[in-house]
Amino acid sequence: MEFQDRVRSALGRAAIRSQQRSAGPPRTTRAELVDWVRAHLPDRTMVVVSNREPYSHVREGKELRWVRNAGGVTVALDAVAQALGGIWVAHGNGSGDRAAADAHGRVACPPERPRYTLRRVWLTREDHARYYSGFSNAALWPLCHIAYVRPRFRLEDWERYREVNRRFAEATLEEVGDKPALVFIQDYHLALAAASIKERRPDLQVLMFWHIPWPNPEVFRILPWRTEILEGLLANDLIGFHIREHALHFLDSVAASLEARVDRERLAVERGGRRSWVRHFPIGVNADEIAAMSDSAETRAAERAIRERLELGNCRVGLGVDRLDYTKGIPERLEALERLFEKRPEWVGRLCFIQIGVPSRIELREYRNVLTRARAIAERINSRFPRASSSGAPTVHLIEASLDFRDLVPYYRMADLCAVTSLHDGMNLVAKEYLAATPDLEGALVLSPFTGAARELERAWIASPYDREGLADAYHAALVEPPDARNERMAALRETVLRRNIYDWTIEVLDAVVGLNLRTPAMETSEISGD
Ligand code: UDP
Ligand code: G6P
Repeated sequence: MEFQDRVRSALGRAAIRSQQRSAGPPRTTRAELVDWVRAHLPDRTMVVVSNREPYSHVREGKELRWVRNAGGVTVALDAVAQALGGIWVAHGNGSGDRAAADAHGRVACPPERPRYTLRRVWLTREDHARYYSGFSNAALWPLCHIAYVRPRFRLEDWERYREVNRRFAEATLEEVGDKPALVFIQDYHLALAAASIKERRPDLQVLMFWHIPWPNPEVFRILPWRTEILEGLLANDLIGFHIREHALHFLDSVAASLEARVDRERLAVERGGRRSWVRHFPIGVNADEIAAMSDSAETRAAERAIRERLELGNCRVGLGVDRLDYTKGIPERLEALERLFEKRPEWVGRLCFIQIGVPSRIELREYRNVLTRARAIAERINSRFPRASSSGAPTVHLIEASLDFRDLVPYYRMADLCAVTSLHDGMNLVAKEYLAATPDLEGALVLSPFTGAARELERAWIASPYDREGLADAYHAALVEPPDARNERMAALRETVLRRNIYDWTIEVLDAVVGLNLRTPAMETSEISGD
């Protein structure tokens, strides 16, 4: 049975009727997710564990203000946590986080309309420098993304990573108490957390989603602590990736580094009497909500205000939205824009580009370099290809800020073209959000083939960020496509995004957990591997 048919049959006739009534492709609603969880995982506390917290509190003089953090994992999971309630364990790193939380580090979230409890884990400066900036972002991130930044492996970073993972596990166990729970760990910062949780509570269901790529075993084997990372991950009952290729790379890495039975057919690993399942589930976005937000009067008014403030006039608008990360291909994207203006001067003065760059991991020099390069290229384009307007409004607007999602939607809505040019990306939610936020179908998505999203969004303008000419040509082709063809293409892409939203993804992951516990088939076609 197709996944969505299974969901539907599990939800019953009422759900099917509600689906038939609503326009557009079938999709799971937030209420259906809640019903599904009640039916299949009753009495189970849901616990999300991640490094990044969904909301931070910031001190402003004597006041405390809260902000919603940017980044695919927290944005997507917040919608799920809001639907399901429960607990979210994460690092409290805002300047006002301690003041906003109770004595146990707990605070109700979202702050304006609480639906779940955020339990903050406190880390020292040294913890942060070694566990987060050091091992997570200077070792694992470049190792997994292969964007030609050399990973840095330092023993002190690794030791602190282990220690901080233990602390996340302890905070999780404290929150769970002796209740039954399903613990859903997020991402590469917490590869070892499941092992400490299972040591004390082997009865808990623990799963991990690895949101970034997993490299092939030849690349992975340079990591000095590869066996420990793999063993840590195999403490999970289920390990999820966005695409099949990453799941298979993971299995190959296990086969190359550990003594384990690796079942490539059923995608499972058996080791020390335990079995872990490995699956791929491409994450979706909160598509209906984004579409509604985009269609609202507030968004239209905000779009007009931005057009005026940036003096966009009649220019077509290109858009990039990313953290300022070297994996996102931001300099490459702007250099291709420069090439477009060289090759096709008719676009000068007729195409503007807005790049929203969220400052990210600035303690690492590779990240500071991205910002320096992006600024330099934007300035160069602005001086080489000025707009004719007397006010001197620039061709490229580099907005260095983290926008609240509501403030981002008007940019999605106004963009004639969205450029997602990652050198490598687990999924890339911006691509999907852009499509969800374009209900009038007036737009175009230029998408790197090295994103997880490109596996599903095949009808986007696929162009490699490593090929400047090809990318410049793709911008042109996307902008001159006749309206009928453009709308038809956007409709097909949008349907893909609407069909599999964040609630579908959650049910898909949880359904796998439920199903796996019921079935424990013998591993017939397994291979024994070792060093
Ligand atoms: N985002 C945001 N404010 C901004 C820029 C981005 O909230 O100013 C959000 C964006 O909506 C998306 C996420 O940050 O949900 C970026 O996710 P993506 O998967 O594209 O990349 P990541 O940053 O997770 O690598
Ligand atoms: C990626 C990672 C997330 C991370 C996000 C933002 O999406 O997969 O785990 O939270 O980037 O990065 P940051 O370092 O700011 O948390």
